[in-house]
Amino acid sequence: MKLKLALAGAGLFGEEHLRVMSRMADVEIAGIADVNAKAAESAAQRYGALDWGTDIIAQLDRRKTDGLIIATPGQTHVPIAKQALERGIPVLVEKPMAMTAAEAATLVEREALSQAFILPGHVLRFSKPHRLIADIVGSGGIGRLLSLTARRYRDDSHALRYPDIDPIMMTMIHDIDLALWMAGAPVHEVLALRNPAHEQRAQTVVTARDRNGAAWTLATAWTFALDAAPPDRLEIVGERGGIDFETGAYLRQYGAKVREIDLAREEPDDPLYTEVAYFADRIRSGRPPETVTAKDAHAGLLIAEAALASLSQGGIVKLPG
Ligand SMILES: NC(=O)c1ccc[n+]([C@@H]2O[C@H](COP(=O)([O-])OP(=O)(O)OC[C@H]3O[C@@H](n4cnc5c(N)ncnc54)[C@H](O)[C@@H]3O)[C@@H](O)[C@H]2O)c1
Repeated sequence: MKLKLALAGAGLFGEEHLRVMSRMADVEIAGIADVNAKAAESAAQRYGALDWGTDIIAQLDRRKTDGLIIATPGQTHVPIAKQALERGIPVLVEKPMAMTAAEAATLVEREALSQAFILPGHVLRFSKPHRLIADIVGSGGIGRLLSLTARRYRDDSHALRYPDIDPIMMTMIHDIDLALWMAGAPVHEVLALRNPAHEQRAQTVVTARDRNGAAWTLATAWTFALDAAPPDRLEIVGERGGIDFETGAYLRQYGAKVREIDLAREEPDDPLYTEVAYFADRIRSGRPPETVTAKDAHAGLLIAEAALASLSQGGIVKLPG
């Protein structure tokens, strides 16, 4: 029997999820809900959804749904996810899972009380080259981690399209999650700088030190012209080597083992497909996610929140623990 997946939020990224679901032979699009009725109806027609409407909860109550993908704005993630969990429906919640760490903690609690699970949409956990980097670091291939530097630059339309969400919560949350995953340690202290200050169309640089002493430097900019942002990069230095990575271009390992992978010659990475397939697989098997969990998303939000506090009050913010 086909798995019945529903979607809340038929915007830009909801469309990406629909494209992915429509490529899966064992998945049926049970319903699409968007507060913008036209967006929901048009997406339902294009993707042959069984149902559509403006209220996702009403839809969950009237139509059998095996899983829900939440691709609405961040402010709505927690209330929708809670309602789905209460109905025993597993959720794939786009990032940021919640707008505050406290909200994320309540979601973790609700998940513990529910038959269902949460898969946070930290899509890079499902990316092949990122998984290889995590394996190299995790297996000690470059020795103890000394530093991790990541950049993720986007065009300045983001500043207009997402006026209600900080670039740290929207874009840098990917790198915070990557750093937590690769470094495997929570953060001790954070300093965030933004230029121009108090603007969305700005560059933000966050420096953090984790509890193993590794230094993180994460940079996000929503300043580039459309289609003119430089590619995402990740650089990791260990005590016995390092890794350089550029999305779609190369992955280089230095140290006892030296290698270079020309990513342009590899099969294209399809992390969103892998993420949704994993969601479907976990629903079918009834096993909760391990690749990334609501607790991981909560840990990332604690760091994001500390970075936001550093921006607003200035100076270094120490995290408890
Ligand atoms: N994983 C990634 O790389 C990635 C990339 C882009 C966006 N996202 C995430 O996806 C989500 C959506 O982003 P987007 O760029 O598609 O935004 P968008 O504004 O294009 O789309 C959001 C849609 O949600 C609808 N909506 C708002 N409130 C709703 C509600 N309560 N119920 C149903 N629909 C509602 C809006 O009408 C809109 O159509 C965000 O959480 C964003 O952070 C993730």
